[in-house]
Amino acid sequence: MSPPATNARRWPVAILGATGAVGQTFIRQLAGHPWFEIAELAASDRSAGRQYADACRWLEGAMPPELASRVVVRCDPSDVQSPLVFSALDSGVAGEVEQAFARAGRLVLSNAKNHRMEPDVPLVIPEVNAPHLALLDAQRRNRGWNGGIVTNANCAATVAAMAMAPLHEAFGISRAMVFTMQAVSGAGYPGVPSLDILGNVIPFISEEEPKVERELAKMLGTFGDGVVHPAGITVSAHTNRVPAEHGHLVCLSLGLDRNVSPDEAMEAMCTWHGHEEARGLPSAPEQPLVVTREADRPQTRRDVWAGRGMTVTAGRVRRDPVLDIKLVALGHNTIRGAAGGSVLNAELLAARGILPPA
Ligand SMILES: NC(=O)c1ccc[n+]([C@@H]2O[C@H](COP(=O)([O-])OP(=O)(O)OC[C@H]3O[C@@H](n4cnc5c(N)ncnc54)[C@H](OP(=O)(O)O)[C@@H]3O)[C@@H](O)[C@H]2O)c1
Repeated sequence: MSPPATNARRWPVAILGATGAVGQTFIRQLAGHPWFEIAELAASDRSAGRQYADACRWLEGAMPPELASRVVVRCDPSDVQSPLVFSALDSGVAGEVEQAFARAGRLVLSNAKNHRMEPDVPLVIPEVNAPHLALLDAQRRNRGWNGGIVTNANCAATVAAMAMAPLHEAFGISRAMVFTMQAVSGAGYPGVPSLDILGNVIPFISEEEPKVERELAKMLGTFGDGVVHPAGITVSAHTNRVPAEHGHLVCLSLGLDRNVSPDEAMEAMCTWHGHEEARGLPSAPEQPLVVTREADRPQTRRDVWAGRGMTVTAGRVRRDPVLDIKLVALGHNTIRGAAGGSVLNAELLAARGILPPA
């Protein structure tokens, strides 16, 4: 897909929460991006006024040298000029800050939980539900702002949604049991203390289960008459923190609307390429969902980097004696489940001509 801009300029973008785990992943995802250029880095008052290299504890690879001396600004629309704003803010502050940016005419791509379930806020995975982006029109009318907030889902819900979408489209899903094994990078930085997680599994992640339970129905719902009609799926989630660095592994047991064999379920998943609007976007992987037939895959360490972290790998598709079909899915939490997903959403906005001229 060619860039939608009519000139050679890239859109200047800001990253709110640029010092955190997801903020740093945004920086890596946006390095050399054909449509977007990092113009501003923002974080809390603790970091504002400091050079980025001093304000942030860089976690992976090399920090882009051109950003090291960039002065971090406050997360205030009067201090940030970019029309497009990626938010990797802590949910304690994201609600009000993201609204202030939308009110100031900016398009905000949010990773936080705060606005996801508001009826006029799109909760988008482009391959799964690109048409939901149309909620932005209702949001602008309802709120009287010409900016907007577009969200991506909880990282574990994202992995589950990518594996469930083809089965829901083909057969209808009515019930889902979701069991997660979630990496420590999902808790941000510094996150879970090492003595709590090394050699251990913690069967509790604060506020995680309700997010998985409510967000799946919205994402797998349909857009019509200006609203999203949630899918009629009852979801029960058990979420667990495990000592893996990156990657959320999700075991799913699904009740389907009709009798389906594991082979039919595999076929539906293998032939699914996601919504056509997502294809060819710069961050879209060649295959959003890969289905493996190997008996012991997907595995967190071996499969988390599929499609540069943007592909979800599923496998172990088999009959479930309690519900109908069970399977395992794995995705990268800070890439597909956070920054990479947000960048893909921004590319969808750009491809639809929703961004102001660069
Ligand atoms: N980690 C994941 O896998 C993942 C996946 C999906 C969604 N999310 C969501 O993404 C968001 C960021 O997560 P994270 O893991 O990157 O967290 P994190 O490592 O704790 O980073 C939080 C960021 O928020 C900034 N911040 C905190 N308080 C602030 C304030 N009062 N004003 C302005 N900025 C403030 C911090 O800046 P300072 O450094 O200046 O304090 C930091 O940049 C969260 O809402 C999280 O739920 C995370």
